Amino acid sequence: MSRHTIRLAADAAGITEAAALLRAGQLVAFPTETVYGLGADATDEAAVAAIYAAKTRPSFNPLIAHYATAAAAFDDVTPTALGERLAAAFWPGPLTLVLPRRPRAAVARLAGAGLDTQAVRVPAHEVARQLLVAVGRAVAAPSANPSGRVSPTTAQHVLDGLDGRIAAVLDSGPCPVGVESTVIDLAAGPPCLLRPGGVPLEAIVALLGPIGRGITPAAAERTRNLRSPGLMVSHYAPALPVRLHAQSAEPNEAMLAFGPIPGHPDAVFQLSLDEDLVEAAARLFDGLRRLDAEGARLGLGGIAVAPIPETGLGLAINDRLQRAAAPR
Ligand code: TXA
Ligand code: MG
Repeated sequence: MSRHTIRLAADAAGITEAAALLRAGQLVAFPTETVYGLGADATDEAAVAAIYAAKTRPSFNPLIAHYATAAAAFDDVTPTALGERLAAAFWPGPLTLVLPRRPRAAVARLAGAGLDTQAVRVPAHEVARQLLVAVGRAVAAPSANPSGRVSPTTAQHVLDGLDGRIAAVLDSGPCPVGVESTVIDLAAGPPCLLRPGGVPLEAIVALLGPIGRGITPAAAERTRNLRSPGLMVSHYAPALPVRLHAQSAEPNEAMLAFGPIPGHPDAVFQLSLDEDLVEAAARLFDGLRRLDAEGARLGLGGIAVAPIPETGLGLAINDRLQRAAAPR
């Protein structure tokens, strides 16, 4: 653990320094098009273990390995025909594929939490790409937030949660997509959506036809924990309770709006006045954080969230909001 977290500019010098820290086994948060990732050299077991410690994850929930190219990813996992089609269509981009791990994989087993599968992704963000090229190895990265908290979409969000616990954060401003990658499991029979995310489900279905929905290890853990409330983990959670499908705010509530709203609540965050789901996704996590802080300052009792359509990025937005609203 580092005492002081350096904020590095996302220029050539900053990227070189970030890559050197990663190669030396340190933790570095970096931007992707979805959210900031908490990176470690994926081939270094101790560095990967340090990710779990920094996030205080309750158990070893498997991590995504990030690569500069699809070819590099497919050195560590067997692509399968569907994996090759999805990679050709959506990489680089906000799509994660869960695939069988190759026996010769360079990625540490702990990165996949000891499973026979490994989640892999080639991010589209130019800074992430340059960093991955400079590191020259896979980089394991969950979202760069303490476990159970809202994912970070700015370097300041990262520092709010992890300052002093990681070596550095590479700062390139807000993440353009704003919700995490879409996760598709191709390792267990027919393709299966594990997590809606930055690639809309409609785009996947247009390529593959209808696909089923599964459950991520993280979600399985939550379900288990529902039966032992003391251990329950709610993910993407702000501190204030969240009320979904709200047409308006009660007097003691802050409001996360999507389009025009009635009245004048004391604290409002507008996701998109034009009801544009892409804009709303990019602003979602910042909005939750701001309302949480503002609500605490004003002594409000909760956050009311306007209804959001279940199409395009709305599926991912609603998934995250449902987690934020889950009992804890
Ligand atoms: O956009 C993103 O995906 C960001 C950026 C940094 O790339 N990363 C991210 O990582 O959101 P994380 O760890 O917060 O979420 C990874 C998700 C978890 O739900 C995890 O359970 C699932 O992917 N996952 C990872 N490896 C898996 C595996 N082998 N089998 C099934 N699910 C897996
Ligand atoms: Mg996460």
